[in-house]
Amino acid sequence: MKRYLDFNATCPPVEAALDAVAQAATEAPGNPSSLHWAGRAARRIVDDARDKLAKFVGCESGSVVFTSGGTEADNIAIHSVLASAQSGRVVCTAIEHPAVLRPLQHKTEQGLDVVFVRPDKNGIVTAGNMIAAINDDTLLVCMMLVNNESGAIQPVHEVAEYCRNHGIPILVDAVQALGKVPVNFQQLDVDFMSLSAHKIGGIKGVGALLVRRGIKLLELTPGGGQERGRRSGTENVPGIAAFAAALGEIDFSSFAAMRDAFEEQLKIQIPEARIISEHASRVTNTSLIILPGMDGETLLMQLDLAGFAVASGSACSSGKREPSHVLMSMGMNESMARSSIRISFGPGNSIEDAKALVAALVNSRNRLKGMAGLAV
Ligand SMILES: Cc1ncc(COP(=O)(O)O)c(C=O)c1O
Repeated sequence: MKRYLDFNATCPPVEAALDAVAQAATEAPGNPSSLHWAGRAARRIVDDARDKLAKFVGCESGSVVFTSGGTEADNIAIHSVLASAQSGRVVCTAIEHPAVLRPLQHKTEQGLDVVFVRPDKNGIVTAGNMIAAINDDTLLVCMMLVNNESGAIQPVHEVAEYCRNHGIPILVDAVQALGKVPVNFQQLDVDFMSLSAHKIGGIKGVGALLVRRGIKLLELTPGGGQERGRRSGTENVPGIAAFAAALGEIDFSSFAAMRDAFEEQLKIQIPEARIISEHASRVTNTSLIILPGMDGETLLMQLDLAGFAVASGSACSSGKREPSHVLMSMGMNESMARSSIRISFGPGNSIEDAKALVAALVNSRNRLKGMAGLAV
């Protein structure tokens, strides 16, 4: 039996999104920049989707720039602020997604002082530590709303307020927050916010950057001047339609019972397991666990053979397996950071899946310990 428990990696498209793709592709086949009826039909779909997204996340329609996903949205914001900067500071959390960390690492090579603020033992980067790192030279602050590995909700409100009062631009990566916690651009009053469609049941390769009115964006890929000159390239009309259709379709809070059942069983059956960010405020679908002495990647493969799709905390980059930078930044050693598994629940999962996963983990643990000649 196949069980998908990796919804933070991607959430398979919901039915409404698939319907929207089919409808947009067949009923509005034109290019939204074309003036004829077919183009106008496509334009209407993009405009309607923009209005719906804007309403959903509390911003003006003019603030929405559709992109190819969260990665592009993060990059546009970062490069727009830092394009011509040769010195100055950027303050960001050490637990950001590589979509933020990588472009900022490039900026350090260009002479910028990038400060990566580490989380506490619960996986929270405190507002106090973020604010303490901000100085008079700070050009940009980057802080994610929800961490993709631990699910820990970060205190963005306080940092955003400080930035606003001091006139410092702030980018909030809300890719893992959308659909899981309330997201309101105007209330948060930030300069940039990045979103991705495939985390909420849209399709892959679509996202949005929300931009405060009046901020000029750098065109990363100059071209036809779509999105009011802010992001060139013919719009992904079916994908954008699916993004709007998926909004609000999934209530991620409804998976709390499964996550809690999983963690409760895990603690009984594998007492040495550790649950990361257990005592922090977390999104209700995510459980990041450490199984000391076991290699996360090996475990992942064993679970895969048993039909479970979960994630290991370590990321694979250019063929080299790196331990999770999130866990390392929490002060864990490499072997602990490599023994993590992330389970993220979503539509179609049940409490039975949660219990079956614990049973499979017990099996794997016993097998691996048996192979190592240890007492089970
Ligand atoms: C926090 C966060 N930011 C950005 C991204 C990148 O989004 P996309 O896959 O749409 O490029 C992800 C995807 O995993 C993410 O979890």
